[in-house]
Amino acid sequence: MNLSLTTRILPAGQGAVAAAATCLAQGGLVAFPTETVYGLGADAASPDAIARLYQAKGRPAFNPLIAHVGDLAAARRIAGFDAAALALAESFWPGPLTLVLPKTSDCIVADLATAGLDTVAVRIPAHPLAREILRAFGGPVVAPSANLSGHVSPTTAAHVQSDLEGRIDLIVDGGAVAVGVESTIVGCFEEPMLLRPGGLPREQIERVLGRALRQPPADAESDSGQPLAPGMLASHYAPRTPVRLNAVSVEPGEALLAFGPRTLPGAEAALVAMNLSARSNLTEAAANLFGYLRSLDTTNARAIAVMPVPDEGLGEAINDRLRRAAVGRE
Ligand code: TXA
Ligand code: MG
Repeated sequence: MNLSLTTRILPAGQGAVAAAATCLAQGGLVAFPTETVYGLGADAASPDAIARLYQAKGRPAFNPLIAHVGDLAAARRIAGFDAAALALAESFWPGPLTLVLPKTSDCIVADLATAGLDTVAVRIPAHPLAREILRAFGGPVVAPSANLSGHVSPTTAAHVQSDLEGRIDLIVDGGAVAVGVESTIVGCFEEPMLLRPGGLPREQIERVLGRALRQPPADAESDSGQPLAPGMLASHYAPRTPVRLNAVSVEPGEALLAFGPRTLPGAEAALVAMNLSARSNLTEAAANLFGYLRSLDTTNARAIAVMPVPDEGLGEAINDRLRRAAVGRE
């Protein structure tokens, strides 16, 4: 693959939307903001474009992609909805929810994008730029987070640029995203299952379903022997610096990722300190999480000491990403 592409960077606007749609139609790779994180888009119906996408990210091709569509009618052309799936779609789309559903018989999403599974992950994003690009392009767009595989997801165009410049065709800069963690993924199987906690808190989904979401078993596999949520392999979202969770003090040479108004013993000696939310607000903490991890990763700290974050609401997704960041990279 040619890894010395010229990556164009365009500010949000009509010109950028038209350029993005044209680029996608030509099999190009376009990074654009969604409300959760920046996505790296490719034409979902083009195996060539998708092969380039896996290469640009360094992503294993057994890890399937989310198809982004503009409206429910487009979603129903590629995926089958049961009553629970419809209720969730009507309550939360557009928004930070991805549904894993059976593919329709004439689903145009390429097999390469679904890793040969008979299911497809679908989402209608809420970000106005993402929606305009989808409308202008006119078909489903697969979009993983626009980072190198295994790295922290991007919440600004600058993050995308630092991971993917020279590897993709276009970055549409729509500023910092609002949510800051990826979408919540629900598998609409016999019983709806939480495959990935994310930007839509579990409690809201359970309220609409009128029951608890099932948890996938730790080593969950589909009938074909593939992992049920293939992207949920342990080390993911990882900065290069070791991450130490549930810190109750700061050791010399460490950077501090704080949460809430408390001060930890040793904090005054931290190499750098950033607070996800001094007022203990989980929405603010989610929006800051990946940017702060990227910043603290550039400080040459021995480790990043992370204060505990409550596990309710968006805290479930924050703690999930922090646990993955703490799993050492091989
Ligand atoms: O917020 C988001 O979801 C962002 C934005 C760009 O939309 N996208 C994103 O994509 O996080 P990605 O590729 O980083 O994560 C997609 C996850 C992976 O863990 C993948 O394994 C899972 O979705 N997935 C995709 N298709 C699936 C399927 N058919 N069954 C189970 N899991 C699937
Ligand atoms: Mg990702």
